[in-house]
Amino acid sequence: MCGIVGFTGEKPCAVSVLMEGLCNLEYRGYDSAGISYFDSQGTLTTVKTQGRLDRLQAKLDQIQPQSCCGIGHTRWATHGEPSDQNAHPHFTEKVSLVHNGIIENYQELRQFLAEKGYSFSTETDTETAVKLIDYFYQGDPFQALRKAAQWIEGSYAFGVLFADFPGHIYAMRKDSPLIVAVSDEGNFIASDISAVLRHTRRYHLLSEGEIALVMPDRVTFFTIEMDPIEKEVHTADWNIEQAQKGGYPHFMLKEIFEQPEALQATISPRLSHGLPDFSVNGLENGFFREVDSIHIVACGTAMHAGMVGKTLLEKLARVPVEVEVASEFRYRDPIFSTHPLVIVISQSGETADTLAALRLCKRSGVPVLAVVNVTGSSIAREADYCLYTYAGPEIAVASTKAYSVQIALMYLLAARCALDKGKMTEEEGQQFVKQLQEAAAATADVLALSDRIAVYAQELVPIHDLFFVGRGIDYALALEGSLKLKEISYIHSEAYAAGELKHGPISLISEGVPVIALATQPALLAKTVSNIKEIKARGGQVLLITREDSPVDPSCCDHLISLPNLDPLFMPLAAVVVLQLVAYHAAVGRGCDVDKPRNLAKSVTVE
Ligand code: M6R
Repeated sequence: MCGIVGFTGEKPCAVSVLMEGLCNLEYRGYDSAGISYFDSQGTLTTVKTQGRLDRLQAKLDQIQPQSCCGIGHTRWATHGEPSDQNAHPHFTEKVSLVHNGIIENYQELRQFLAEKGYSFSTETDTETAVKLIDYFYQGDPFQALRKAAQWIEGSYAFGVLFADFPGHIYAMRKDSPLIVAVSDEGNFIASDISAVLRHTRRYHLLSEGEIALVMPDRVTFFTIEMDPIEKEVHTADWNIEQAQKGGYPHFMLKEIFEQPEALQATISPRLSHGLPDFSVNGLENGFFREVDSIHIVACGTAMHAGMVGKTLLEKLARVPVEVEVASEFRYRDPIFSTHPLVIVISQSGETADTLAALRLCKRSGVPVLAVVNVTGSSIAREADYCLYTYAGPEIAVASTKAYSVQIALMYLLAARCALDKGKMTEEEGQQFVKQLQEAAAATADVLALSDRIAVYAQELVPIHDLFFVGRGIDYALALEGSLKLKEISYIHSEAYAAGELKHGPISLISEGVPVIALATQPALLAKTVSNIKEIKARGGQVLLITREDSPVDPSCCDHLISLPNLDPLFMPLAAVVVLQLVAYHAAVGRGCDVDKPRNLAKSVTVE
C-alpha cells in the first residue's frame, strides 16, 4: 500500500532513478504520485499530481530537473480522496516527507499542531507527520524524528528530506516495510527491493524503530536512542529480468505462465529421499507429531490457498484445521488447543491483517509457521518458522503463481504432517511427492489451453454477473476463480458450494446467466452434474471444468474444458490455471487495466 523510493548519489540522475523506482512500485498503489528533490542549487522542490506516473512524468518534462537526491511516492489513498493536494510528498519549508502506513492519532496531532499555529491544506493523516517533524526540528533531523516517533501512533515507513541537509535522506519505520539499498552509484531507500533492482541487489532491512541516514557514499543506522547499529547486508535472489514483463503484454499473463517453473523451484528444495523435509527451515521431522489443531490465517487469495491446505491436512493427517480471514481472526479471541500451530500465508509478507494475527498468536504463546514469498518481509522475520515459496517477484496485483506455490507447500506440509503422525508410510509419501511433481509439470499442459480459454472468455465480456460452483476442494477453487475474475474484470461474481445453490442463490439463475462449474473430484462428480442440470434447466450457460476421463455427457453443459487426469487431490494445481486464464482474458476483452485494477494495491499494509 503506497510505494516509497529515495535515491542519493553523485550524478544528477535522481529524478530518473526515482521515476523508474516508482514505476516498479506502482503495483502498491496508483492513485497519485510525486517526488521531492534537491535541485542543482540545493533547493528542495516538490512535484506531484493525482493519477498515474505518466501524469507526473509530463509535469517533470516541463521542468527537466537536475538532481542528485530525492524521494518519491506512489499512493493508495486511505485518508483523503486521490487529488493533487493529497498526493505525497507532503512538505513544509524545512521538511519534505513520503509515508506508507496510517497515522492513527492524526486528528489529535492535527489539533495540537493547529494550536501551535500550523494550518492544514490536505485531508491526509500524513500531513500531520510532516508538520510534527517540522515542529520538533531545531536543526537536528535525528532529534526531530525521534521526538515525532514518540508522539505518532499507527504505522509508518517515512522517507524524509530536510532542506538544510541537501543530499541526505532520513528514513524511519514502524509496522510498514522499508529497506535501505546500497550500490557504487549511490544509495537508496525503498518499500521493497523490486524498486531498485536495476541498480543493486544489496540491501539492509530497516527494523522497527530504527533511523537510517542515507548519503551518497554511505549509510548509517541508529536506534531511536541514537546508538549506532551495524546492520547485515542482504543480497536479493530476484533479478531485474524476473521483475520485467519479458515480452508478455501483462505481468499477470507472464506470471500465470511462470507457474510450472515456480512450482518446481518451490517443491524441489523441500525433498529429501523423495519425501518432504523442512529440517533446513528448522522444522525437524517429527515437528507435527504433537500438533493437535491447526489454524490457517491469511487474506484473499492466500486464504483460498489455506482452504486447499485445510482439505489436505485434514484428509491426510487427520488433524483438525480452521481457516480464517486474518482481519476477523485477530478480533475474535480465538480458542487454542493444547498443542496448536498457526500457519500464516502471505505472498508479500507485509499484509497488515495477517501480521497482526501473527503477533496475536505470538503473544498467546502459540507457535507460528509462515509461508511467504518475499524474503526478509515482516511476516517472514516475525514468525517462529518461515517457509519461503520461490515464485520470484509477483508484480500483477492479482495473485496467480503465488497461489500455486502456496498450495504446493500445503501439499508438502500435509504429507510431512501425515508422516509425522504415522498416518502415511514412507512409500505412500514418496508416491504422493511423485504425484505432486507430475501435477506441477501438468500445469504446462493447461497453459497450452490459453487460446481456447480466451475464446470462451470473450463470451463473458458483456456480462454483469457470473457464478462459480464446486464441491469439496473445488469449492475452494471456485472462491479463488470468483475473486480473480471480479478483481480484474469488474464482473460481479459469486462462488457457491454447488449443493448450496438450491438453498437460495438459484433464484438468480435465469436465461443466459453464465456459470463456471468445477467438477474435478470423481467422488463428487455425479452430485455436481445434478446441480449443473438444475442450472441448465433454468437457462444458465455452463462452462464445465473437469478431468479428461470424467464420464460426463458433454451435452450437460455449454462449454467443456478437460484437464489432465491427475490424482484427484492434485487437481487444484491444474484447475486454477484455467480460472486464472478465464479472468485474465475476460479482463483484457473488457479493456481493463489487468495488472493494476482499480481501487486495489498489491501489498495491503493497512488494516
Ligand atoms: O500478500 P498477501 O498474500 O498477504 O496478500 C493477501 C491478499 O491481499 C491478496 O491475495 C489479494 O487477495 C490478491 N489481490 C488477490 O489476487
